[in-house]
Amino acid sequence: MEAAMKLARQYFVEKSQPRRTRFIARRESYHGATLGSLAMGGHAARRAIYEPLLLDNISHVSPCNAYRMRDDEDEVRYVARLIRELEEEFEAVGSDTVCAFVAEPVVGAALGCVPPVRGYFEAIRAVCDRYGALLILDEVMCGMGRTGSLHAWQDPLVGVVPDIQTLGKGLGGGYAPVAAVLVGERVVNVLENGTGAFSHGQTYQGHPLSCAAALEVQRVIRDERLVQNVAVLELYLERLLREQVAPLPYVGDVRGRGFFWGVCEDITCLNWYLLLIWSRSSSSRTRRPRSQFRLSEGLRWVSMS
Ligand SMILES: Cc1ncc(COP(=O)(O)O)c(C=O)c1O
Repeated sequence: MEAAMKLARQYFVEKSQPRRTRFIARRESYHGATLGSLAMGGHAARRAIYEPLLLDNISHVSPCNAYRMRDDEDEVRYVARLIRELEEEFEAVGSDTVCAFVAEPVVGAALGCVPPVRGYFEAIRAVCDRYGALLILDEVMCGMGRTGSLHAWQDPLVGVVPDIQTLGKGLGGGYAPVAAVLVGERVVNVLENGTGAFSHGQTYQGHPLSCAAALEVQRVIRDERLVQNVAVLELYLERLLREQVAPLPYVGDVRGRGFFWGVCEDITCLNWYLLLIWSRSSSSRTRRPRSQFRLSEGLRWVSMS
């Protein structure tokens, strides 16, 4: 994420817009643990003790979470409210000072696999374009096939192309520590016609072992048609979740895409992230303590801090 932030900043410096130093991100998001990416994230608990150390050029607006829509709103009104909030934030901080808007297209562990409402990212893209800011999508958690398309932004529900995109977990399939930043033509062209180099580097960047592992993982994903498989099985998984998990007494919301689903507990609204599903429970509608739903029944609940 910090590479993406630096790239966005360099892009504007090379475009002779050095006033652009700010970022707008969303509450209840997570973009990493190092100070810059922690500052970008809106995860209150993870930020708490480090607040005095965090960057002050980042502000946060509301996430897009259909479960939090007001009773008097439909999706169109909800999106309009969120977009108004974003526009107000651009105006408040100075629209010509913003490098980029940053978001997870499908929010990961910070909010519990929350996909956007239809039309949200298209409206976000339009706001960014109007104010001349970049759109950075963080697909470290949701990308590389997990949501049923190789990139989460390829899902029609997202439906926009980012200027910069981050990748991580699914890139190496857990076999190698590897992450990447994908850069759109618009940004590449400016750098190519300017200094010709991204002013950034790390000891292990482009590490051959990690790159080889990532390449092999991508070959397997392609050759075994894993992304297509997710898109097909998603329907089955969603049906099971809606039939067997959604009606449980403590469940407020079940949401997700592909193989990336979350369950929001009602009342306290803690998010529970459903990691593994092998559902064979026929009696899951009965009232039992959550602790009894275990791997033996195909469900594993992991509390998100
Ligand atoms: C959406 C998202 N962005 C960024 C990160 C940070 O990745 P890393 O821990 O590799 O820096 C994570 C980690 O969980 C994540 O879920």
